[in-house]
Amino acid sequence: MYKFVIHGGKKLNGEVEVSGAKNALLGLLPATILANGEYTFLNSPELLDAQSMIKLLVNMGEEIEFSNHTIKVKNNGLKILEAPYEFVKKMRASIYVLGPTLSRYGYAKVSMPGGCAWGPRPINLHLEAIQKLGASVEIDQGYIIAKADRLNGAKIVFNIPSVGATVNTIMAAVYAKGTTMISNAAIEPEVTAIAEFLVKMGAKISGIGTKFIEIEGVDELHSADEVVIPDRIEAGTLLVAGAITKGNVKVTKCNPNHLDALLTKLTDAGFTIQTGEDFVELKSNDKILPVNVETEVYPGFPTDMQAQWISLMTIAEGASEVTDNIYHDRFNHVPELNRLGANIIVKGNTAFVKGVEKLKGAKVMSTDLRASASLVLAGLIAEGTTEVLRIYHLDRGYEKIEAKLKKLGAEIERVQTDEY
Ligand code: EPZ
Repeated sequence: MYKFVIHGGKKLNGEVEVSGAKNALLGLLPATILANGEYTFLNSPELLDAQSMIKLLVNMGEEIEFSNHTIKVKNNGLKILEAPYEFVKKMRASIYVLGPTLSRYGYAKVSMPGGCAWGPRPINLHLEAIQKLGASVEIDQGYIIAKADRLNGAKIVFNIPSVGATVNTIMAAVYAKGTTMISNAAIEPEVTAIAEFLVKMGAKISGIGTKFIEIEGVDELHSADEVVIPDRIEAGTLLVAGAITKGNVKVTKCNPNHLDALLTKLTDAGFTIQTGEDFVELKSNDKILPVNVETEVYPGFPTDMQAQWISLMTIAEGASEVTDNIYHDRFNHVPELNRLGANIIVKGNTAFVKGVEKLKGAKVMSTDLRASASLVLAGLIAEGTTEVLRIYHLDRGYEKIEAKLKKLGAEIERVQTDEY
């Protein structure tokens, strides 16, 4: 078990590169189920979640190698059409094997994903969609058992533009007979990247990047290669690291167009932002102004940046309100931030943050991926030493975050510990 030991107070300055996007890769890998052949994914981030997805796909029968940010997949046909609980409980995104396995083999047995640190994560939209495509779905002893001789195109309207349900449905529809129309599809960049990859594999998809996606079923697909898009949430987290320490940070190998909502809010908070084709540069001025945020689906302010924003607001010159409209209970980081001296009250799905003069280092505990990031950010400015426990949560979605922060001047060490 490891923890981070952080000595706060250092301004972060300099340049740092962003890794490939976790939430794109977690859809690209299961897409390989759809066709035999060899696939290469460049710019793959070395993350625990990537390893989890690889283990699941290897268990189903694929051969996968991962070295030096390159994942090579060899699919000679699945041997197991199941995603057992021991895999799914580790990572919700395992549900992504449902659509492609059902679509290609007419059968899939996938464990229901458990909840997560911040509460239930329903999958009703995934199941309703595949039923609309003609699958029979039953829940038996915690498993989803989906069957269909052949899926038939259908019109599917999502009442919530769910990222996962959109991805799963597209992958289920690529072999369905006829046309599938998805209305109110998610338009996150990762959904677009996965759909574009399926087109490279020979799928017939139009309306990519819009809320109306049309999939024309085909009889055959083939393998393809891809370069994973940059991780916009990691980029945003590194920018907030520069902001909270009042430093000057340039984040490279990112896509500024994916960060509009965050960059606008950073500007409102008093930072100077410059963007180029593949970089964002943040310059600090002397104040951090309080700025309210409401999370929304893309291109709104991402829920995956909510915790990091709250950390920044803990030392703003005034009060701010941060509302999460996507996950109403995603605030496990708040009690831990208050242990560092922050002044935050959560009512419903809004955190009321009163800026304080400074935070003071303490031992804090990670509970989930983005909550852990918010604790590390707070530790960068807390007076004295902050110890962040259970950092395996961080390793799920950030590649060597301590090395990146150290490169910018942070005093942060990964230390072995028996503490849990
Ligand atoms: C994806 O999760 C991301 N994960 C999450 O990132 C991200 O927070 C989320 O999208 C929102 O942007 C991956 O891409 C692997 P949703 P997903 O379905 O697909 C409700 C991270 O930190 N909903 O768009 O599970 C749901 O409860 C992770 O990298 C239903 O009601 O999110 C939520 O309120 C955390 N029924 C809303 O929709 C369903 O069937 C959005 O969820 C599905 C979702």
